[in-house]
Amino acid sequence: MGRVSAIPDILTWPGEEMTRKRVAVLISGRGSNMASLIEAARDPDYPAEIALVVSNRPDAAGLAGARAENIETAVVDHTVFTKDREGFEQAVQAVLEQHRIDIVCLAGFMRLLTPWFVRQWEGRMINIHPALLPDFKGLNTHERALAAGVKEHGATVHFVVPEMDAGPMIAQAKVKMHEDDTAETLASRVLALEHRIYPLALGLLADARVRLVDGHCRVEGALPDDNALLVLRG
Ligand code: GRF
Repeated sequence: MGRVSAIPDILTWPGEEMTRKRVAVLISGRGSNMASLIEAARDPDYPAEIALVVSNRPDAAGLAGARAENIETAVVDHTVFTKDREGFEQAVQAVLEQHRIDIVCLAGFMRLLTPWFVRQWEGRMINIHPALLPDFKGLNTHERALAAGVKEHGATVHFVVPEMDAGPMIAQAKVKMHEDDTAETLASRVLALEHRIYPLALGLLADARVRLVDGHCRVEGALPDDNALLVLRG
């Protein structure tokens, strides 16, 4: 994957100092999006550093990838907190605070989060979802897009709000459907673009070029809008 070396200098936010934000990536599995964020953050000009990777599964493949990059990792095993979602989240929150995290990126993190946790990170927590939101929230998005016969599909980076996959969008990547697409071919084309839009969106947030204001994704100089700020076409 190519590096995202610079966020296009389309906007400035007066009075903002450029300090690299400390980011935690929350994963549950292979962590390819996590890897794309780590790769982008290798560039010293990128406004965020990946300071921590947290997994709710001790066997998540992404943990090894993070360790290989000398990134701190933590496992908060949700199975230990049977029927105690808040207890699990308090443990995650404690790790995030201990590492002085500024921004949380969910990247294939397969736990629903309570309003309490979401509130702790309001405007500072983003997620990547493999569909063009608001379509196909939830799981099995590629299969559902194929079954619905849509012409375009893709991925969305959005702010996290208490309702699942519903927060204001920062960036989308779109692909055209091919006649012979299967869920696998579609997933692989979409994933390649996920790896490009997630670093872009995190860069914009870390640079304070996008913010969550009154429930909307705002960028200085732009009109209030519910549409994604960036749209990438594959
Ligand atoms: C990605 O498709 C992401 O959009 C979704 O879960 C998948 C995670 O893949 N939320 P990876 O673990 O980043 O490889």
